[in-house]
Amino acid sequence: MVLCKIEILAFAVLVFYIPIAHSWGIDGHLIVCKLAQARLSEAAEDAVSQLLPAYAENDLGSLCSWADRVKFRYHWSSPLHYLNTPDNLCNYQYNRDCKDEDGIQDRCVAGAINNYTTQLLSYRDTSSTYNLTEALLFLSHFMGDIHQPLHVGFTSDKGANTIDVHWYKRKTNLHHVWDNSIIETAEETFYNTEVDELISALDKNITTVWSHQAKAWEACRKTSCPDVYASEGIKAACDWAYKGVEEDSVLGDDYFLSRRPVVNLRLAQGGVRLAATLNRIFG
Ligand SMILES: *[C@@H]1O[C@H](CO)[C@@H](O)[C@H](O)[C@H]1NC(C)=O
Ligand SMILES: *[C@@H]1O[C@H](CO)[C@@H](O)[C@H](O)[C@H]1NC(C)=O
Ligand SMILES: *[C@@H]1O[C@H](CO)[C@@H](O)[C@H](O)[C@H]1NC(C)=O
Repeated sequence: MVLCKIEILAFAVLVFYIPIAHSWGIDGHLIVCKLAQARLSEAAEDAVSQLLPAYAENDLGSLCSWADRVKFRYHWSSPLHYLNTPDNLCNYQYNRDCKDEDGIQDRCVAGAINNYTTQLLSYRDTSSTYNLTEALLFLSHFMGDIHQPLHVGFTSDKGANTIDVHWYKRKTNLHHVWDNSIIETAEETFYNTEVDELISALDKNITTVWSHQAKAWEACRKTSCPDVYASEGIKAACDWAYKGVEEDSVLGDDYFLSRRPVVNLRLAQGGVRLAATLNRIFG
């Protein structure tokens, strides 16, 4: 009977959980972590390789979706992947918006970035009791999430999870379009279905067309600046993600081609900022 319950639970998880996953898809997170790891200082590269479990073989990208996989085991962590802002206001304020559904302050993606940044700052403190492997994996994941515009979406539609749309011919929801579909369609259309080719293209743009802007993306007077990233996020959500979309909209070439540059920009910013934050933490 016990086994049977576990099987039913596993089934329920597969059927009901994955379709509303609150996160860039696996590729989005992989992209952010790969872009970041290539930009680490020697001190940060060293700390990251110490903190990663051996089976990751020093590849931060391979564990960048770990935080999604532990959402059930660490149920407390699921509100830390996103934040919701008041409907249609198109702005963000930490004190007003960074809380979970029970109204508990700091329990949102911006609060979690502050939390795990602070924990990692104790890296050289031998009396630290934090699990800094987990802190690194959470921070790396949440830095990706906060750059997904609909992880900083409206409250009543749960970051557009409740807005059903068609992506070309397929039924999905608007949140999923931004987590996965735009990236997947871009990979299929422009990069031979190879995530590595998209990563190389982003990497190249960071050092060429975006090189000046990338300096500004890194800038932060504290160790990390999640409030800046969240404010940009809700603005991008209003200007691009929600714009022109209604329940049952059919999103095709026009939407894909006009929004693809926004997704590319947010992935690049996420990677550059994760690296800059880790470099400040371990520098
Ligand atoms: C901070 O990190 C600890 C350890 O993982 C966790 O228990 C707590 O819920 C986190 N709080 C926030 C706001 O991230
Ligand atoms: C830290 O967290 C990782 C990942 O959850 C786990 O495998 C490891 O055993 C933890 N380390 C300690 C000392 O608890
Ligand atoms: C890189 O920049 C070029 C020139 O602006 C642009 O056409 C291309 O789409 C960009 N690629 C990515 C992945 O950002």
